[in-house]
Amino acid sequence: MTVPDIIIAVDGHSSTGKSTFAKLAAKEFNLLYLDSGAMYRGVTLYAMEQGLIAPDGTIDEEGLREALPGLDLKFVSTPEGSKTFIGDRCVEGEIRTLEVSNRVSPVSAVAFVRAWVDERLRAMSRGGRVIMDGRDIGTTVFPDAELKIFMTADARIRAQRRFDEMVARGETPVFEDVLKNIEERDYIDSHRETSPLRRAEDAYVMDNSDMTLHEETVWLRGLVQGKFGILE
Ligand code: DC
Repeated sequence: MTVPDIIIAVDGHSSTGKSTFAKLAAKEFNLLYLDSGAMYRGVTLYAMEQGLIAPDGTIDEEGLREALPGLDLKFVSTPEGSKTFIGDRCVEGEIRTLEVSNRVSPVSAVAFVRAWVDERLRAMSRGGRVIMDGRDIGTTVFPDAELKIFMTADARIRAQRRFDEMVARGETPVFEDVLKNIEERDYIDSHRETSPLRRAEDAYVMDNSDMTLHEETVWLRGLVQGKFGILE
């Protein structure tokens, strides 16, 4: 389907399948896919490696403020798709571990970290034709996005999906830990001071608790056709 040079913002709760959905949509509509969560995860991994997060989770904010300009975080196009890199090192796997997942929400609540990430996301999106997923894309990063989608699903269903993904990667997670991580992130993401997770007033809500990926795609196609008057 041919769409105009639009920006699609996909926001929502953790583990609602935003990135899978956005990647499929990017392919279908020939848009650039940008994963804003990967940026926050990359900053978190970097902060951990620089010793800026204490074992109790306390962030050395001053240290992070000084270290951030030295972080060369980017998306690199590879034969297996776009991957997150720090310098010339692929960190795609490391940024998805439970250690990083457990630390990322507090890091992403730091205002200067958000400003740093937002600046990069906007620079990478120049000219539009982008679909970006995150928590505040439709509210803060691109409040004028032509199409906004807000994804949600039951927390236990989301935890089960994340648990299955981790098992498939050879990890041995405990279900209750995965659920706890999701519930904690929902809370922190929705209650932080800077750009909290919330549905933009003009966002279309998708609760995919009982939807297949195919049903999600059909839903989106209908939405895009109706919104942009595309006859197909
Ligand atoms: O989408 P994800 O689970 O990979 O995101 C990781 C964390 O980053 C999530 O807990 C909240 C934060 N995040 C954010 O605050 N704003 C965004 N636009 C994207 C992610």
